[in-house]
Amino acid sequence: MGEFVELPLRIYICSREKMSAATNIHPIFHKLLQRTDKENLLNQNSKVIWLTGLSGSGKSTIAEALEKNLHEKNFLTMLLDGDNIRAGINNNLGFSDEDRLENIRRIAEVSKLFLNCGIITINSFVSPTNDVRTLAKKIIGENDFIEVFVNCPLEVCEQRDVKGLYAKARRGEIKDFTGITAPFEIPASPSLEIKSNELTIEESVEKIFNHILPIIKK
Ligand code: ADX
Repeated sequence: MGEFVELPLRIYICSREKMSAATNIHPIFHKLLQRTDKENLLNQNSKVIWLTGLSGSGKSTIAEALEKNLHEKNFLTMLLDGDNIRAGINNNLGFSDEDRLENIRRIAEVSKLFLNCGIITINSFVSPTNDVRTLAKKIIGENDFIEVFVNCPLEVCEQRDVKGLYAKARRGEIKDFTGITAPFEIPASPSLEIKSNELTIEESVEKIFNHILPIIKK
């Protein structure tokens, strides 16, 4: 846990201080089969493909299609999606800065478990700030974190409003809504940018697939 204290993430540190950290733990990581053993079994290199973008930008649709595409090509994948995760493991978290940070911290830790099991993990989370994305990258490891910015103008997301959330946010029925009453900070240097309002789903998937294939194939 000590390594995180150096992060410029005051909120994160505060939230950790509130929890009682376990003592007397004896991790057995070194005794376990290694990631490379699992990757060799699966004949793939595991990575975390992290899709960030506004609600309604197309992240989940692209993630689902990408996963199917990889599955058809015999890659073993896991898809983690904001709405699903928030219905389960993170159902005690809201959308304050502090809760979003804890949301992403848990997701990143879970992703690392899949990563160490040799599984290609596709994550679809708004992950709206540099702080939360930095935390995810730090936990997962820079070399294993492939950041994909699903870039769709706010006006387009709002016009689509698939879940009706933008209308609710405009009416003041949802507070801290990303893009309306909470910030979305543009990723400074993503591995890849997908302009989802200019590409079809198939084109978006193809672009991501072409980017990751040399990295994930053995
Ligand atoms: S994150 O900001 O913590 O990364 P996450 O991806 O888990 O967010 O969840 C975002 C999803 O929750 C959105 O796609 C949307 O369906 C829903 N949602 C509900 N309230 C909000 C809100 N205030 N801001 C953003 N998304 C919200």
